[in-house]
Amino acid sequence: MRQAGRSLPEYKAVRGEGSILQAIQDPERAAEITLQPVRRYGVDAAILFSDIVTPIFASGFGIDITPGVGPTCEQPFASAADLDRFRPLDPSVDLDFQAKTIEILMGELDVPLIGFAGAPFTVASYLVEGRPTRDFAKVKALMTGDPKLWHQLADLVADSAIATLRAQVEAGAKAVQLFDSWAGALHPAHYREYVLPHSEKVLAAVADLGVPRTHFGINSGELLPLIAGAGCEVVGVDWRTPLSVARERTGGTYALQGNLDPALVLAPWEVLEAEVLRILDDNAGHPGYIFNLGHGVLPMTNPEQLERVVELVHRVGTARGPAPDNAANAST
Ligand code: CP3
Repeated sequence: MRQAGRSLPEYKAVRGEGSILQAIQDPERAAEITLQPVRRYGVDAAILFSDIVTPIFASGFGIDITPGVGPTCEQPFASAADLDRFRPLDPSVDLDFQAKTIEILMGELDVPLIGFAGAPFTVASYLVEGRPTRDFAKVKALMTGDPKLWHQLADLVADSAIATLRAQVEAGAKAVQLFDSWAGALHPAHYREYVLPHSEKVLAAVADLGVPRTHFGINSGELLPLIAGAGCEVVGVDWRTPLSVARERTGGTYALQGNLDPALVLAPWEVLEAEVLRILDDNAGHPGYIFNLGHGVLPMTNPEQLERVVELVHRVGTARGPAPDNAANAST
């Protein structure tokens, strides 16, 4: 979850000036940035250094990532004529930098690599709004006012997510994550009608690859059953929903990932430690659990705090690991 973020000095040293898309297209640099949090924190997996808008950028639709702002489009998606601005993605040409980055990583990593893509709603929201938004007014107006055009747009974005995810796994990624970061902005009925079919399409299109699929949205407490049902093995949970509640809402058969509040990483260590222990207790020894933040690392985070969190989870999480009856289930 954007682990490297802007908090690591070694990230700042190699990231370079300007758009992050430049660094993403440079395999040596992108591989180095992917490795940095693994080296620094000793985490159990690496996440590919890229962005959710990378495949859209590669398809030729004008989009950039403005430092300190996020994804921006000078000409946002506004009408049917804009559908022609998407070229079908040929990963071997358009995303060759991604395959090269993963090739380097396969020679360096001793933990699994997680690939990812943005889900159709979250990515399309940037294309329609032209920049990060709080109210999602334009994208909601499009989906409810012109559902046909919305579905055409979401379908194109879904295709680009499928192309990038498949290419990542073929190059060596051992798990994939679909980020629908802003899905929580939607009423469940609207999510079900306008968004879910497109995310289902993406997740179904990678099912044959046999890697675990994580599906995540922040502020998604009300959507958890739908997010889980879209076709995944792991459900990402932000910090607003207790793990035990998330497990109830998703029926108990999914692995969960989360759910430390990134802001609490800035709190005094005693507060942070208590919070980590509370989350592990809330998991109650369930074997299907991946400790993580509930969202990305905040830029002002002190890396030493995260080092201590990883050390604590490795030490205590294992001790509090699967309860005896769960452990028995896990080994069968
Ligand atoms: O650990 C990693 O660095 C993994 C790579 C990664 C990035 N973005 C690199 C990045 C991942 C997994 C993402 C996903 C992403 N990008 C999401 C989904 C996850 C989430 O955070 O909800 C979203 C919504 C985006 C879009 C995006 N890109 C935003 C909102 C921003 C922040 C803009 C800012 O500067 O405040 C970005 C830029 C971005 N992508 C950074 C990183 C490390 C920020 C640092 C930089 O610009 O160098």
